[in-house]
Amino acid sequence: MTKTSSDKTAASLCGVILAAGAGSRLGYPNEIGGKPMVPVAGDPLVAHNLRRLAAAGVDEVALVVNPVNRPVIEAFVGSGADFGVQVTYVMQEVPLGIAHALSLCADFAAGRHVLLLLVDNLFSADIGAAVAQYREQGGDKAEIFLLPVPNPQDYGVAVLQDNRLQALVEKPKPPVSNLAVIGLYLYPPTAFDYIPSLVPSARGELEITDLNSLFLQQGLLNYQLLDGWWLDVGTPERLAEAEQMLKNSRK
Ligand code: G1P
Repeated sequence: MTKTSSDKTAASLCGVILAAGAGSRLGYPNEIGGKPMVPVAGDPLVAHNLRRLAAAGVDEVALVVNPVNRPVIEAFVGSGADFGVQVTYVMQEVPLGIAHALSLCADFAAGRHVLLLLVDNLFSADIGAAVAQYREQGGDKAEIFLLPVPNPQDYGVAVLQDNRLQALVEKPKPPVSNLAVIGLYLYPPTAFDYIPSLVPSARGELEITDLNSLFLQQGLLNYQLLDGWWLDVGTPERLAEAEQMLKNSRK
C-alpha cells in the first residue's frame, strides 16, 4: 500500500519542568519547597505548570528537584495523577544551570522530543497548537517562544532581522532587543548530544541560551511570538502581578 503524509506518526514528546530553584526572595527557601511551592492565585507554581503541560497533551513529565526541596515537592505532587501527568523525579544536586538540569533528563527522555518549562514562568497563551505542530513536524529543530518586555536586560533576548532570528543574547546590557525568550523550549533528542560541549558562563552555569545558540548556528532554531502576558515570577513584585493576572483571567 502507498504511504501518504497522513500516515506519518507524530514524534513522541515528554515534558521537563525545572523545579530545583530556591525562592528565597519570595520567602520560600528550599526547606519549604522553594520556588515550585510558591502559591499564586491559590495553587503552587508547580501545580499551574503541571496542569499546563497536561493541557498541551504532554502526559509524562520529569520534575527536576534538588536534594532539599524534593521531599516537600514529592509529598505535594506524588505520582502527578492529580495534575493529569505521570511524574518522574530527577535530582539536580548542584545548581549548575538550566542546560545542566536538562542534561540530567537524558535517560528519562530516552530518544523523545522534549518540552522544557521553567517552573517560575507563567503565561496566558495557549500553547497546545504549537506543541501539536512541533510533534507533527518531528525532526531535529528546536523552538523558542518570544514576547516583548519592558525589561529585556533581565532575560535572554532574541535579535530578529526581517523576521529571521539573528542572535540570542543572555541579559544584554545594551538594549539589543525587547523580545524576551521565555522559559519554554522545545527540543529534539539531539539536544542531549550538544550539552556536553557547553562551557559554564560567568555565573558558573550551563546556559540554555548557549544551547539555543548552537541550534541557531546550524539553522535549526525556530521561534514563535506569543500573545498575551508572560511573567517570570522571581520577585515579590512579579508575584503580585502574576496573582492579579491569573485572577483576571478567571473572571
Ligand atoms: C533564564 C534564562 C533566560 C530566560 C529566563 C526566562 O534566566 O537564562 O534566557 O529568558 O530564564 O525566565 P534566569 O532565570 O536563569 O536568570
